[in-house]
Amino acid sequence: MAVLQKLTSKQAIALENKYGSNTYHPLPVVLSRGEGVYLWDVDGKRYYDFLSAYSAVNQGHCHPKIIGAMTAQAQQLTLTSRAFYNDKLGLYEKYTCEYFGFEKLLPMNSGAEAVEAAMKVCRKWAYEVKGVPEHQAKIIVCNNNFHGRTTTIVSFSSDSTSNKNFGPYSDGFIKIDYDNLEELESALKSNPNVGGFLVEPIQGEAGVYVPSEGFLAKAKALCEAYNVLFIADEIQTGVARTGKLLAVDHENVRPDILILGKALSGGAYPISAVLADNKIMDVMTPGTHGSTFGGNPLAATIAIAALEVVKDEDLAANADKLGKVFRSELNTYIKTSKIVNLVRGKGLLNAIVVNDTEDSDTAWNICLALRDNGLLAKPTHGNIIRFAPPLVMNREQLQECIDIITKTLTQFEP
Ligand SMILES: Cc1ncc(COP(=O)(O)O)c(C=O)c1O
Repeated sequence: MAVLQKLTSKQAIALENKYGSNTYHPLPVVLSRGEGVYLWDVDGKRYYDFLSAYSAVNQGHCHPKIIGAMTAQAQQLTLTSRAFYNDKLGLYEKYTCEYFGFEKLLPMNSGAEAVEAAMKVCRKWAYEVKGVPEHQAKIIVCNNNFHGRTTTIVSFSSDSTSNKNFGPYSDGFIKIDYDNLEELESALKSNPNVGGFLVEPIQGEAGVYVPSEGFLAKAKALCEAYNVLFIADEIQTGVARTGKLLAVDHENVRPDILILGKALSGGAYPISAVLADNKIMDVMTPGTHGSTFGGNPLAATIAIAALEVVKDEDLAANADKLGKVFRSELNTYIKTSKIVNLVRGKGLLNAIVVNDTEDSDTAWNICLALRDNGLLAKPTHGNIIRFAPPLVMNREQLQECIDIITKTLTQFEP
């Protein structure tokens, strides 16, 4: 029997349970195909994707332009390592720098790797440009952050599931409350060795927390006043998800360091990047950072295609328009609901807060019922359900999804 045999749902789940490290709690649905806003399971049942692989598939599943570019490049050259030049990396770096308005790009693969790379750039800048004494550099982070899973990143997580028994923790981080300018200013004032402020413009994993209007702009101004780098982790919020190219664009903030991942490849390949201007990025010199796969010609080609799709199809405008419809319709539903308290978000990154305790299984059960009704979403932090469909959705499809969601919620009303 061939290794890649056709599996039933039951067989696929049993194999993952038996042979896979038990780090996830997936919704029981086994997917085998995707196109645009749709996913199909192994039995051919169709679903609307309302997670988009945590906002990686903004351009829709298997976008023909991205897969076309990927296939052509895969037959030409996939990996050289950075020991040599390749004929695609420079084109990608130029295109992406101009696209986002920065002077240099550092190519990586996963989001967490890009966050790590950004923190290295920040610390090196703190020592070599700002003049912080050796080993004293600090980075301010926010409570309830999510920046990935490496040992250093979980060191400053406030989520005990993600960091319990993974110590000893890395030093050099100051935690403040999200959306709290007084705490930010007081941390900046009392610590002359702060090099950067690392922040998600909307806290996605925490449950789509949108900060107060003006927070990002004022935080950026404070960073400027204290000669501290404003580092925006736009891995989940970037690339049109929130209705603008970047979530910081809602407040006309230009980060000193921008971190991208996920939708930079449209979900076709792990591609992440750190962007900054020369005065910051030039602290990095040969040997100070690297990655065997980072900047490979396959990734470079895919990322260019993925970013072109975002522009060609005006996905930011679509996310903005459909997001407003989504929140307005759900707000109407909530007026008479006992099971949903709140809908919040920006563009097509939204969440509902279920009226139950964090450790209840109501949100999980709602997601199971949504699945049965043809829509896939996942709870985050117990009683919150994130709704983030691909941005290529059209108005009619969105209406069908709103109808599925409201009909399903009705099943749970007391
Ligand atoms: C804001 C943010 N930063 C970093 C990451 C980590 O990205 P990855 O899972 O690709 O390492 C995520 C993933 O969800 C994220 O949402």
